[in-house]
Amino acid sequence: MIRDIIAKKRDGKVLTSEEIGFFTRGYADGFIPDYQAAALLMAMYINGLNDEETGYLTEHMVRSGSTVNLSGIKGVKVDKHSTGGVGDKTTLVVAPIAAASGVYVPKMSGRGLGHTGGTIDKLESIPGFKTSLTQEEFIKVVKTVGFSIIGQTENIAVADKKIYALRDVTATVDSIPLIASSIMSKKLASGCDCIVLDVKLGSGAFMTDIKNALKLAKTMISIGENAGKRTVCLVTDMDVPLGNHIGNALEVMEAIETLKGNGPKDFTELCIHISGAMIYAAGKADNFDSAREAARKSLESGIALKRFRDFIYMQGGDPRVTEDYSLLPAAKKYRDVLSDGEGFIRRMDCKKIGVASMELGAGRKDLSDTIQLGAGIRLNKKTGDFVNKGEVLAVLYSDDEEKLDKGEALLKESIRFGSEPLPKRSILIAAVDAEKTEMFSYPE
Ligand code: URA
Repeated sequence: MIRDIIAKKRDGKVLTSEEIGFFTRGYADGFIPDYQAAALLMAMYINGLNDEETGYLTEHMVRSGSTVNLSGIKGVKVDKHSTGGVGDKTTLVVAPIAAASGVYVPKMSGRGLGHTGGTIDKLESIPGFKTSLTQEEFIKVVKTVGFSIIGQTENIAVADKKIYALRDVTATVDSIPLIASSIMSKKLASGCDCIVLDVKLGSGAFMTDIKNALKLAKTMISIGENAGKRTVCLVTDMDVPLGNHIGNALEVMEAIETLKGNGPKDFTELCIHISGAMIYAAGKADNFDSAREAARKSLESGIALKRFRDFIYMQGGDPRVTEDYSLLPAAKKYRDVLSDGEGFIRRMDCKKIGVASMELGAGRKDLSDTIQLGAGIRLNKKTGDFVNKGEVLAVLYSDDEEKLDKGEALLKESIRFGSEPLPKRSILIAAVDAEKTEMFSYPE
């Protein structure tokens, strides 16, 4: 049977819901071996899946695990997901902002892998903080503070977990229907009413051209809306690292500074756009503009910061970290990276900077690797800035001198100089929902 399904997709035919369900069940239960699953995934990658097949794949992956029951929380619950970036600490800021604006955010997050970081690792740099709670504890924190962030439970979208790991080693990750169904299966199982998706576009992201980013956005919106969840998607710039800090404890510091109103402009603006989209999706504002105004007020009033402190306290962490960064883990060594070139920074290869951070010890090559929570990069200069020869481009943090050497080489390789300044561009490229696509700025 599985051989026939592989042959059908190989020949470019359309699979039925039963056939797709046979595959997801069989693979999750171990009856279908890796080599047949890999062949089918490659056929899907090459010949694509139409909207119906993508919907069936998502549905079957949701059914392969359990769905979180959030009915104990009375109010609109919004989930948020980013397709992954470098320096992306957005969840730490948007969840408290949305919560302070009357939206419930019960959020499950993952760990970092490769050049991208994960929210759970960042939170674990807060002394005492628990990222694993029982369902009752999770709901209690959401009801009290308005949001909670915990590690993704093992039994969510079980088939996706296995399929995603296989895609990772069979060069079948960057397929729009496979990415859309993988992400949406986890979001639909999370039990929220609305979903806000941040599709990253640029050198640090899966999507490197606007056409594909919009296609991914629309595919995920159609899956979400068909499942009865209001789904809003922002396409945002990931051609420059987000903010100035990359690495777990360093990103927690930057998130707290942002909640205090002292964050870098690009990152603060992104947080307003995303938390605005969450408020808008939840129906707490008439339009995206007034939702963003509400988000800005929650940030500027300090209410979001207070929610963040309460959240740390309720999940067992030490809320004094919001005032005293010396309580966070720090690397044993640091190094200033001095510029060999001079001129305007024309380009920063985000992926390479993410790899530099991983090599410094902040990330993992393999899920079983241990990380250094204090390791990472503090960028002094970013794309568009003018740099003199010998000026400090960045400060690198690690426990290990050899890692500093690798990090320095990668960081320097990631930067291209030019003599002309670059036009300024907005971090928000497009906002998409079921009705319309609004374009804000076009990347070059
Ligand atoms: N993130 C996921 O969860 N799945 C993908 O396929 C790609 C990114």
